[in-house]
Amino acid sequence: MILVTGGAGFIGANFVLDWLRECDEPVLNLDKLTYAGNLENLVALKGDARHVFVQGDIGDGVLVADLLAQHRPRAIVNFAAESHVDRSIHGPGEFIQTNIVGTFNLLEGVRAYFGKLSDLEKAAFRFLHVSTDEVYGSLGEVEPPFAETHQYQPNSPYSASKAASDHLVRAYHHTYGIPVLTTNCSNNYGPYHFPEKLIPLIIHNALAGKPLPIYGDGSNVRDWLYVGDHCAAIRRALASGMPGETYNIGGWNEMTNLDVVHTVCDLLDALSPRSSGSYREQITYVKDRPGHDRRYAIDATKIERELGWRPAETFTSGIEKTVRWYLEHADWVGNVTSGAYRQWTETNYADRK
Ligand code: NAD
Ligand code: DAU
Repeated sequence: MILVTGGAGFIGANFVLDWLRECDEPVLNLDKLTYAGNLENLVALKGDARHVFVQGDIGDGVLVADLLAQHRPRAIVNFAAESHVDRSIHGPGEFIQTNIVGTFNLLEGVRAYFGKLSDLEKAAFRFLHVSTDEVYGSLGEVEPPFAETHQYQPNSPYSASKAASDHLVRAYHHTYGIPVLTTNCSNNYGPYHFPEKLIPLIIHNALAGKPLPIYGDGSNVRDWLYVGDHCAAIRRALASGMPGETYNIGGWNEMTNLDVVHTVCDLLDALSPRSSGSYREQITYVKDRPGHDRRYAIDATKIERELGWRPAETFTSGIEKTVRWYLEHADWVGNVTSGAYRQWTETNYADRK
């Protein structure tokens, strides 16, 4: 079996669902169920013996040691993290705790477990660490996209904590010989994306008749990748990646935030029109994110050349699927946008007016 951490979050849940659709190898899913973790994402697996869910913290050394000893996974895919940049600006503590200390504790558990494997098991074992393009910092308008050799220059508490975790993972390979893989991916979008992030927030606010908040002038650039393509890339890296290597994953799809928001509004205009006018009329410019990275872009040549992965979705096909998914899952959105979510939007948007 494989151990997936953070498998009740956005990408982790998509990964677990896709994995069990693709093969029969069981998944042990360790997730703390923070505000971002949601068992409703995994409801399709109810009663499926191939999925074992454990609520717990990657930083809990005793729990991790027990789970490894009991289930003896042949691989670990580490998604567990605090993932939202704005939250890291309001309160970096949890980011340090989970992304750095948590990853360290998980690696310590893996080091002890790995040491007791047979030579054959050691050769087959993999620890795949899911990371982000944000560790590379921000690009100028005409700079080439991030290659794996780009220097680390993280700018937010979130990206700094992810960079620290990447360094720990790298060190556990070089020092202890753990067969690690690190993937650095660009902005994902798709089903189960928590509506604190740009695309699901815009869909949610648009349908609720609320303002569509654009930080700054809306010209910051991100590279967008459909979540199913990210999951396929991780499966490919896990199967064929070279231990100790890092692989950049991206959609070859740079867009300004304003263009992304316009695309979403136009799709909603077509699929769920307002009684009059366009959703674009709800766009509101708000105070910028402090330290807002200007541009991310990924050079995904290495994973294409060495592992034969390329995204299957274009932004046009992926965003339409995504908007349709949100329109068909109003109950999911309703459940995650009650309670603590309201408090967060008040915290994040109150001082941007
Ligand atoms: P998410 O916030 O939606 O989900 C994170 C999951 O981790 C949640 O289920 C949460 O409960 C769990 N978790 C948090 N702390 C934990 C802990 N201490 N122990 C166990 N579980 C814990 O995040 P996401 O967007 O799905 O991102 C998953 C991973 O992919 C993260 O490592 C993130 O840095 C990385 N990543 C995300 C993107 C993106 O666009 N969302 C892009 C590149 C990389
Ligand atoms: O690049 C990969 C990263 O992408 C991941 O590592 C992170 O976990 C993930 O959250 C994402 O980070 P971003 O900060 O790029 O994503 P977010 O959706 O928060 O914002 C996307 C862009 O939209 C960014 O330039 C900020 C802007 N934005 C965001 C929000 C929430 C707005 O203009 N308005 C908003 O309300």
